[in-house]
Amino acid sequence: MRAFCFALTILCAVQSILAYPRPDFAINGVVSGSATVKTAAVGLSQDIADAGKGTVNLTSGYTVLSNLSTSLQFIGDEIVRVAAPLASQLTNLSTDNSNQIETTYAAINTSISQFDVLLSSGLNTTITDINNTAGTDYIVKQFADAFKNTKAALTALNSTIYQLKSDVDKARKAAGTTNPIPSAIIRANIPAKTVNNVITAIRNLRARVPLITYVIDSSLDNLHLVDLFIIALQKEVVDGAARYPLSYQAFQSNLGVESASVNTQFITGYGSNVSAIISSINTDLQNNTAYTSGLQTNINSLATAYGSIDTEAGKIATAFNNYSTNVPNLIGNLSNELATSLCNPLKMVSKVQIANAGYSDFCFSKYSPRVFSQVQLTIDAFDVCFEKELARLMNLSPVVQRIATQISYNTADLLSNLNVCLAIVDPTAEGACFTTIAPYYAVLATKVTAHTATAINLVNAETTASYNRLGACLYSSLSVTTASATDISNEAASCLDVGPQ
Ligand SMILES: *[C@@H]1O[C@H](CO)[C@@H](O)[C@H](O)[C@H]1NC(C)=O
Ligand SMILES: *[C@@H]1O[C@H](CO)[C@@H](O)[C@H](O)[C@H]1NC(C)=O
Ligand SMILES: *[C@@H]1O[C@H](CO)[C@@H](O)[C@H](O)[C@H]1NC(C)=O
Ligand SMILES: *[C@@H]1O[C@H](CO)[C@@H](O)[C@H](O)[C@H]1NC(C)=O
Ligand SMILES: *[C@@H]1O[C@H](CO)[C@@H](O)[C@H](O)[C@H]1NC(C)=O
Ligand SMILES: *[C@@H]1O[C@H](CO)[C@@H](O)[C@H](O)[C@H]1NC(C)=O
Ligand SMILES: *[C@@H]1O[C@H](CO)[C@@H](O)[C@H](O)[C@H]1NC(C)=O
Ligand SMILES: *[C@@H]1O[C@H](CO)[C@@H](O)[C@H](O)[C@H]1NC(C)=O
Ligand SMILES: *[C@@H]1O[C@H](CO)[C@@H](O)[C@H](O)[C@H]1NC(C)=O
Ligand SMILES: *[C@@H]1O[C@H](CO)[C@@H](O)[C@H](O)[C@H]1NC(C)=O
Ligand SMILES: *[C@@H]1O[C@H](CO)[C@@H](O)[C@H](O)[C@H]1NC(C)=O
Repeated sequence: MRAFCFALTILCAVQSILAYPRPDFAINGVVSGSATVKTAAVGLSQDIADAGKGTVNLTSGYTVLSNLSTSLQFIGDEIVRVAAPLASQLTNLSTDNSNQIETTYAAINTSISQFDVLLSSGLNTTITDINNTAGTDYIVKQFADAFKNTKAALTALNSTIYQLKSDVDKARKAAGTTNPIPSAIIRANIPAKTVNNVITAIRNLRARVPLITYVIDSSLDNLHLVDLFIIALQKEVVDGAARYPLSYQAFQSNLGVESASVNTQFITGYGSNVSAIISSINTDLQNNTAYTSGLQTNINSLATAYGSIDTEAGKIATAFNNYSTNVPNLIGNLSNELATSLCNPLKMVSKVQIANAGYSDFCFSKYSPRVFSQVQLTIDAFDVCFEKELARLMNLSPVVQRIATQISYNTADLLSNLNVCLAIVDPTAEGACFTTIAPYYAVLATKVTAHTATAINLVNAETTASYNRLGACLYSSLSVTTASATDISNEAASCLDVGPQ
């Protein structure tokens, strides 16, 4: 992938094969075309050096990337280590007048052999590592193709060098002890075609090396792209996890409001205290022994029941506070939850790009943003859970208010009932009146307590229910994320095979 700039200058650097004759090719004699051999060999040197220049800065910490980077750069470095001496030898050969024919050509033969061995099997372990680590064989197929072509060009070069050596040998022998070798002998024994074939072979070899460089560099580029994506996704997960507390803190603050509202509805809804109701007639009541020895006990129980309501109402805040305190624990570490959900699709879209296949760019561009968007989608889904629970909790205070109203009915007629008795002039009849209503108020006292308990139990049950509904909602949202993530993984994997749908 990425623009592949390959030095077209190689095709333009055409020089006449007859230019600048000099002592060359390991004999002290001027051979036409040697300067062009030099030009071609210098170009080969440059292209071989390029194979080792690829590098990438990886900071995401994803070991697949660093592993591949090491392997890819190792291949580039090996190409340079083994092939650079050959290019240097060919360059030196073009101006070599040492007369050390055997030594010089043997060294070149050795270099060609070593390069050949490198391409045939020297990198097999590294290639296998790349195949296993990338999890696809697109890169290794590209290397196989590039190596096969380079190897063929190398074999062709080998033959032309062998022919050149053979011709140089003949010229050397024909010249006997004459040094330098006369140009007539050279022309007779080293045909221009031999030199031209060497030039062609060097140029052809040179034209094969950039493909190796391309496979290395484009693969490294992909690693870099994936590295940047992982870093961006990591940041998005951390940012998303940091936004989550804002969501639940807003919810907690609303819980506080609801708690206060339920409490207010309850303590303002149950009506006046018994002592307040009867304070205006208490003296009259105390003058009747039937009252003080009978009904008063039950009225006191009723007063106690009412007096406890405010204390019991304190449990509303306790329940809401407990709810509120536990909300942050529902999802203990959202970063970890998101990371777990997004790990597989992250690996898959990375694999798709790392593959360096025909559809890699397309499929990565198609699916990596979808992985990225899962973070915000999840946080948004969480907000929906919070909103929904809040709306439901807002139904609680009207219910509690109605229970309070029902409680208030238990003292609604107390004053008028007592006044009816007090209106009876005869103390005995008046006392009988008190005695008659006494059992009812005994029961009412227990029912005030029961209603109060009902209200508090309702608040406890509802806050616990709400907490659990919230937990179910948050985790089902995370499950949606995980399910989407799995879909993204599967689709990205098939995209690599089949491309656009
Ligand atoms: C890698 O990072 C170093 C130091 O930050 C920098 O000098 C170098 O250019 C970077 N290399 C690449 C390929 O980005
Ligand atoms: C080619 O010649 C240069 C300069 O003389 C020398 O530094 C280099 O080692 C030679 N290369 C080989 C492979 O002998
Ligand atoms: C070239 O090198 C190969 C491998 O080292 C060796 O088998 C072969 O005999 C050599 N050929 C010549 C002509 O030196
Ligand atoms: C190069 O040619 C020589 C001579 O024919 C041969 O010994 C050697 O094996 C060849 N090397 C390669 C790599 O083809
Ligand atoms: C190296 O790999 C090539 C291509 O897969 C294979 O032909 C060759 O036999 C392998 N060589 C070794 C030594 O495993
Ligand atoms: C790469 O791995 C695949 C299996 O994943 C295997 O079929 C293939 O032969 C391997 N290729 C190389 C060159 O190791
Ligand atoms: C890369 O991973 C392979 C296994 O797939 C392992 O054998 C190799 O040692 C690793 N290389 C590095 C440099 O970590
Ligand atoms: C208290 O009751 C007695 C009769 O039992 C009555 O004579 C008296 O007037 C009453 N006192 C008051 C203040 O109502
Ligand atoms: C009822 O009595 C309690 C104390 O027993 C008091 O705190 C509360 O304010 C009273 N309520 C009303 C409505 O008078
Ligand atoms: C979540 O877990 C990660 C890794 O385990 C840790 O770095 C991070 O600080 C944790 N976050 C919270 C809010 O605990
Ligand atoms: C607090 O809330 C949690 C979760 O709803 C519940 O399990 C626990 O029993 C509650 N504790 C109290 C004291 O209400």
